[in-house]
Amino acid sequence: MACKPKYHACVIIFFLLFSVSCRSLAAELEGNQTAVVEVDASWRNARKIPETLFGVFFEEINHAGAGGLWAELVSNRGFEAGGPHTPSNIDPWGIIGAKSCINVMTEQASYFKRNNVALRMEVLCDRPAVGIFNPGFWGMNIEEGKMYKLVMYIRSKDSVQLTAKLTCSETSGQLQSLASASTQDIVMSNWTKVELQLLAHGTCRTSRLELKTSKKGVIWLDQVSLMPSDTYKGHGFRKELMHMILELKPRFLRFPGGCFVEGNRLRNAFKWKETVGPWEERPGHYGDVWNYWTDDGLGYYELLQANFEDLGADPVWVVNAGISHTDYTNNTSITPFVKDAIDSLEFAKGSPKSTWGSIRAAMGHPDPFPVKFIAIGNENCRLKQIYQGHYMLFYKAIRGAYPDIQFISNCDGLNGQLDHPADFYDVHIYGNATELFVKKDMFYTASRTGPKAFVSEYAARNGKSATLFASLAEAAFLITLERNSDVVQMASYAPLFVNDNDRNWLPDAIVFNSWQQYGTPSYWVQTFFSESSGSVLHPITIRSSYSGSLASSAITWRDTEKSFLRVKVVNFGPHVVNLTVAVNGLQAGVNTTKSAVSILSSSNAMNENSFSSPNNVVPVTRALPHAGKEMQVLLAPYSLTSFDLALEL
Ligand code: AHR
Repeated sequence: MACKPKYHACVIIFFLLFSVSCRSLAAELEGNQTAVVEVDASWRNARKIPETLFGVFFEEINHAGAGGLWAELVSNRGFEAGGPHTPSNIDPWGIIGAKSCINVMTEQASYFKRNNVALRMEVLCDRPAVGIFNPGFWGMNIEEGKMYKLVMYIRSKDSVQLTAKLTCSETSGQLQSLASASTQDIVMSNWTKVELQLLAHGTCRTSRLELKTSKKGVIWLDQVSLMPSDTYKGHGFRKELMHMILELKPRFLRFPGGCFVEGNRLRNAFKWKETVGPWEERPGHYGDVWNYWTDDGLGYYELLQANFEDLGADPVWVVNAGISHTDYTNNTSITPFVKDAIDSLEFAKGSPKSTWGSIRAAMGHPDPFPVKFIAIGNENCRLKQIYQGHYMLFYKAIRGAYPDIQFISNCDGLNGQLDHPADFYDVHIYGNATELFVKKDMFYTASRTGPKAFVSEYAARNGKSATLFASLAEAAFLITLERNSDVVQMASYAPLFVNDNDRNWLPDAIVFNSWQQYGTPSYWVQTFFSESSGSVLHPITIRSSYSGSLASSAITWRDTEKSFLRVKVVNFGPHVVNLTVAVNGLQAGVNTTKSAVSILSSSNAMNENSFSSPNNVVPVTRALPHAGKEMQVLLAPYSLTSFDLALEL
């Protein structure tokens, strides 16, 4: 590419990854905008960003957990999904064999009292082998060379031998066997826990688990679990999905919802007590807001463990405020909900000798999980009078027992003072990209006294697409949160995950199926902020006739070796911007060899990622040989650019 002297900026364009030829650039430069970002990098005017600023929000929505982050491959493992009354539906289990040879029905015959349903399988013929199968969540991902642990509970009147197989239906005709193991041929007149290891000698993304026998008789089955042996730290999480969260370096994880906490009916709300203790004893429940069954393998304990041991994050524990999503009556007795919240804190923080702390200890964690934040309900302040009454009951009871806990109210503290005590008020901000870009400034006028803001859910929603355009509005929003982090102290995108087979709420940050995953542009935007929490914020000014389309912030952050001045700039408009970055008050020299620039952009602002093109819109990082206290750069239209100036300190 030949650069005419007139367009000496072409040199810079090389490292800015600006993907137009110089000739077409020359045309574009005619309509160029100019802007100056001035950074006051002196320590005098700098301020620390809260350690907690950026985190993630995990909700059981879109099969984010069941059939997602939680690696369990069997769906409806305890046969409870059809309800407590038997005979019941056994979906998604299916029957292998002719009706004349096998008779299957659920019965209230389980060994486990809280989840009383088990499966009775009567085998009427000796051959061919008959049984049941489970397809998991839209097919199980079985990979060659990997070990899978099968656990099941069996009772039998006669001696019984069950063969467990992982089979694949991808090839036409007969099901291909990928792994197989059999139980001993014995009578199990009492419920017996049986474990088998299945080593896969083939790969299939849509496999199923088969349990078959060729012996006549009656067998009861219950709590059938199949776990891959390579979960994250052996904690039961799908590794690749966990790695994607880790890349964001979240400082907190809000869970388990969202509306999932509320339930459309209170009886279908998340009840933490039913999600702790041995997995076999958990009844599971139907989440009637997002309309699917969860076996609750991913329960309260597992999410606390993920926070403290896997992510190094602080949990933000959302409890049910005694109000459901659609049930607006005020005749619910609130006492059990307050008791539940108090007990949940005892489970997390109590001594291993306490009632609930002892269950945590028995699960393998005698040390407390030092929970600091509790949110009372989700979006319930729409019923202001009821919510405030409930909130105060929670507040008084919890404050008394756990004075160090910080409270999150979901009443609006932005447009007025809260009339109840709280450390944070929870704000949810959804809107189309243009709206979000405008809303980014909403915290400049927020009160600087009183509770801090927690933006626990935000996203630009232009239809169902997760486009670059939407993500840039989010980037501008986050940049402005950084600049308002004296009042906004926590923020998380929503929702985090979507299973491609249950695209209920779109867009999302991470898309996955049984074996693949990719980040949407919204995910990649968040990676630009993974160093921000706990860093140092510097004042900036933008001078431009085009400033209405720009957003910028500057921070100093450290990695293990060096400090960096990071200047981020969003160009939310269609024009190239000739930008001058001028850094004043910097006490250190700039190391040009260790400086870098990262850019998120694309040839079209409406571009997005997909399983076939997961890297269509991803950040590109290049060296920044011209790094310095004054830099002339070109910003691509519709882009997020982050300059990292390595400091000689
Ligand atoms: O993030 C999806 C949903 O949006 C959450 O469950 C709810 O809190 C909000 O309305």
